[in-house]
Amino acid sequence: MNTVSQYISQLRTDFTKGELNEQMLEKTPDLQFEKWMNEAVKSEVTEVQAFNLSTVDAHHKPSSRILYLREFKNNEYCFFTNYQSRKGEQIFTNPHVCMLFFWPELQRQIRIEGVVARKEDADKSDDYFNSRPEESKIGAWSSPQSKVIKGREELLTLLEQNTEQFKDKKIPRPDFWGGYIVKAHYYEFWQGRMSRLHDRMIYTLQDNKWKIERLAP
Ligand SMILES: Cc1cc2nc3c(=O)[nH]c(=O)nc-3n(C[C@H](O)[C@H](O)[C@H](O)COP(=O)(O)O)c2cc1C
Repeated sequence: MNTVSQYISQLRTDFTKGELNEQMLEKTPDLQFEKWMNEAVKSEVTEVQAFNLSTVDAHHKPSSRILYLREFKNNEYCFFTNYQSRKGEQIFTNPHVCMLFFWPELQRQIRIEGVVARKEDADKSDDYFNSRPEESKIGAWSSPQSKVIKGREELLTLLEQNTEQFKDKKIPRPDFWGGYIVKAHYYEFWQGRMSRLHDRMIYTLQDNKWKIERLAP
């Protein structure tokens, strides 16, 4: 019987769902991102708002995790997390990050590189925190995100304590939790094509203008 490793080595995908050329591209990458996000939403792409965020630590070692995109406009991309998490510590020492969206239903990938900073306006983090379901709010208070814990019991105890502490009260946003904004300076829009001759169009920011070029697949 084949092992799963042998099985996946034989998987093949035909990339036939679309194309991307110079004429189809919007003048600026934020408009192109919005166009593709719209198409992905209309195509009911699973977890369309999920992206991979890669960060690099003080010793130049990268790490990645999936996050949810919550807002985007004018080449700024917002996500929410724990500021004391592993990613939070890495961002503190190195604000250069890479975001990656993969939408298999459309055979598309979008890479966005930029510089990240905490959302300046704390009120905006409050607004988003307040819009979350109560259990998510208590959850944020109850998770020392990325820290080693003794067992699940520790989390459940924190959950219980916080549920008691905030009983019949408005749950405030913890000061260790909030938004980050990635300011993008590089984009790549990737569309799978036949014979592995994929379309790769990049936008780079040069003298405050977006330059568009094509990369070999
Ligand atoms: C679909 C999906 C969405 C997620 N969204 C978030 C998010 O928006 N914010 C967040 O802090 N963690 C989110 N996570 C959990 C992160 O992947 C990660 O485990 C957590 O943020 C800790 O990462 P770190 O230790 O690298 O800081 C999500 C995970 C998945 C699979």
